[in-house]
Amino acid sequence: MGQRIPEETVEHIRRSVDIVDIIQQYVSLKKRGRNYFGLCPFHGEKTPSFSVSPEKQIYHCFGCGAGGNVFSFLMDIEGITFIDAVKRLAPRANVDLSHIADHSTAEQTETSVMIAAHELLKKFYHHLLMHTNEGEEALSYLLHRGFTREIIEQFEIGYALPSWNAAVTFLTNKGFSLPLMERAGLIVRKSGEDSYFDRFRHRIMFPIHNHHGETVAFSGRALGNEDPKYLNSPETPIFNKRNILYHFHEARVPMRQKQQVVLFEGFADVIAAVQAGISHAVATMGTALSEEQARMLRRNASSVIVCYDGDRAGIDAALRASETLTEAGCYVKVAMIPDGLDPDEYVRKYGADRFRHHVLDASLSLTAFKLEYLKRGRHLQNESERLRYIEDAVKEISRLSNAIEADYYLRQLADEFSISMDALREQMTLHGKKQQTERKHERRETVILPAKAKLLPAFQKAERMLIAHMLRDKAIALTVQETIEGAFNIEEHRAIVAYLYAFYEEGHEPDVSSLLERIHDPQLKRIVTELSMMPMNEDISSAELQDYIQCVLNYPKEQLLKQKEAQLREAERQKDYERAKRIASEIIAMRKSLHFGRRGING
Ligand code: UTP
Ligand code: MN
Repeated sequence: MGQRIPEETVEHIRRSVDIVDIIQQYVSLKKRGRNYFGLCPFHGEKTPSFSVSPEKQIYHCFGCGAGGNVFSFLMDIEGITFIDAVKRLAPRANVDLSHIADHSTAEQTETSVMIAAHELLKKFYHHLLMHTNEGEEALSYLLHRGFTREIIEQFEIGYALPSWNAAVTFLTNKGFSLPLMERAGLIVRKSGEDSYFDRFRHRIMFPIHNHHGETVAFSGRALGNEDPKYLNSPETPIFNKRNILYHFHEARVPMRQKQQVVLFEGFADVIAAVQAGISHAVATMGTALSEEQARMLRRNASSVIVCYDGDRAGIDAALRASETLTEAGCYVKVAMIPDGLDPDEYVRKYGADRFRHHVLDASLSLTAFKLEYLKRGRHLQNESERLRYIEDAVKEISRLSNAIEADYYLRQLADEFSISMDALREQMTLHGKKQQTERKHERRETVILPAKAKLLPAFQKAERMLIAHMLRDKAIALTVQETIEGAFNIEEHRAIVAYLYAFYEEGHEPDVSSLLERIHDPQLKRIVTELSMMPMNEDISSAELQDYIQCVLNYPKEQLLKQKEAQLREAERQKDYERAKRIASEIIAMRKSLHFGRRGING
């Protein structure tokens, strides 16, 4: 199998696409000066620190440090391999790479076999449900619950026989290796033996897809009251619950169009919603919403309606999910389902229209939801409980950073309890002051990145400035190579200059995006993109250049000098004058060998 794509082809593809076009499919970007800015898709943030340079064809986030060229962007955002990223862009450069297999290493071949097994088993389960006598009971259960045949087809729901070896036999006949199928979570090994049995038996099978639409896991629902109600595939190389949302693959386009997504707790809720015409619906895997999942949603929609069960556990989970989503930068609304029903039951009981208008359209902002939630279990006709509620409500409102929004909720509270706005505002000022100081502390911690750069020691700053210039100018790189060579003091910097010297020696002109192709270490990539995107004056005088070089060369000598001085003090303290004299003359010789630049050693 020819698995390598020639370097020239990779280069050609990279040059034929514009990184701005590609990134814009995932992040909305605005031009400011020479670069584009947007909200970083790799970490949650509310103010844009993610920048893309059309000239350099790279991106860098000043918040989390993520950075690279168009291929690394696709690899990180889609979770795909380098080969797949190149293949993805090949058609844009009119290059045909369809002969190259999708996955390059043995490990990746294994994952594609695991996926192939899931795909075949999904069809097998689906066939059993729809067309066999054994599947009748399961099918009538689903139809009775209100699932239509069309929706069962659409979600490719299936049925696993009440057998210990139906899947084992099926997979063996298709030529799959059983140990691999065990690692894929489809079958279980008998303890101490070399034989296997089916994981899923007598269950309704819901296939779970990753965001490319490949089948990577199953969830099997019991037909009766057996435990567990839903049996899920274990974590495997192709199934990580934190990164997967049920129905995400199908919901992606409608989500983007509406810039909205409805988040449910259960698979049945998603299916009921889709049946009711709400296609921008997804669910978690029976676990709390993870940061990764929140970011997946944020990348595709600006607002999220959290629609969890109306019981206590559902409300608590909804609040937790809302926090995670808010941190990821989503605008959150919460839909409350009355009567302790879950969304699926509500849709089936009251119909699609009522679900749309009375639940989704009536969803509350997170603050309004919290204000409602604070009322729970309180007897508001009782004066002291009422006052305590108002106090808690004001505290909640004072957390809002938007003054207009805060005023809106205060006014509502004033109307609801016939209190004057002045009294509420006064109360709010008290809380507001506390909040502000808290927020100031937070801010101090988050700006640590740029502040840290200013506080770097002189030699480190000098190394960074040199590399920043070397990346832009081949002649400077040559001067540095002749003077410092590889003697940079910081390990990562040594690695970067080694790549850079080699790059120029191969005859390339300055081109960070192409250089990044050769660097695989993510930490090095971060530094390279950061230094390339760092705003700086590109003209450098040769005196300035010499200063930086000297500063880098002097640093190890200064360190040695400091050691000697300490030894000298120690010798004097011990009254060992012989040794003190020897060290003192060494120090004098060392001082002489130190070259001072125009501005001295402190640059
Ligand atoms: P629920 O218990 O609310 O199930 O669990 P449901 O969605 O209402 O299902 P039906 O209507 O009874 O069929 C919500 C989600 O929690 C996970 C599943 O993902 C389920 O969709 N779960 C639940 C499990 O993973 N295991 C279980 O045993 C139960
Ligand atoms: Mn349910």
